[in-house]
Amino acid sequence: MNPQSNDHNVFIKKCVSRTAFERELHIYSKTLEMTPRLLGFTRPDVIVLEKVDGIPYLDHPDGFDAAMLGKTLASFHKTLWKNGITICQYDNQPKNILLVSKPEDEVKEQGAEIIKNRNINLIGGETSVWHKLQHNFCFIDFSDARLDHPENDVSHLMLFWAEEFDVSKFAFLTSVFVSSYTRQVNLNKKIWLLLLRENIERFDRRRKIYNKIPDRVPKNRSENRELLFEMEF
Ligand SMILES: Nc1ncnc2c1ncn2[C@@H]1O[C@H](COP(=O)(O)OP(=O)(O)OP(=O)(O)O)[C@@H](O)[C@H]1O
Ligand SMILES: [Mg+2]
Repeated sequence: MNPQSNDHNVFIKKCVSRTAFERELHIYSKTLEMTPRLLGFTRPDVIVLEKVDGIPYLDHPDGFDAAMLGKTLASFHKTLWKNGITICQYDNQPKNILLVSKPEDEVKEQGAEIIKNRNINLIGGETSVWHKLQHNFCFIDFSDARLDHPENDVSHLMLFWAEEFDVSKFAFLTSVFVSSYTRQVNLNKKIWLLLLRENIERFDRRRKIYNKIPDRVPKNRSENRELLFEMEF
């Protein structure tokens, strides 16, 4: 599709199919705090959203806060939970998870709160307190969203990290993410292994289709993927 915007505060998305439109509308009409506001829609294919001022989270020069991402994804999954199944974003490539600047007032308010309470437990490791205060994660693009186990989204998300980071950074990010995520939602090892295998196939297939194959296989890919198979929850 060819998304276009015609206003500073509005993002108009023309969906590729009726199914994609209904999937997006289904999520955006729930008014979740981690998705842009739905401003309107026109059947069969137009969705009008609040335009968010963000960049793909893996592109941020200061890195990202894996604990905050874990918390945000768990909240998303928990809100839509039914009998062990939830709505997975499914296509959770970095372009579909934006790091969005918070309004200045909100940042000041939280900063004041932190100064007041010096015992605050800051999770997330390497990213600075300031970074944590200034940004929110925002999920966009639900054209492929579907009901599945949460292990689907989590394992697919980490396959992108496995391409990018060296083994120690990868181990750090995944463990920080998992301990934050599992405060709200449990992960099951059996389901994890099943969906991880499926997602590796999907991931590699899509890389071929969209011609995103790097010149050489990323150095740490196989070792990082091995860590995913060994992960305990
Ligand atoms: N509400 C929004 N505010 C700001 N930018 C947005 C918004 N929604 C989407 N975008 C931008 O437009 C891009 C494409 O939108 P989206 O991912 O929803 O459509 P898509 O069909 O998946 O397109 P693509 O194939 O390019 O990913 C996003 O990667 C993002 O940069
Ligand atoms: Mg997209």
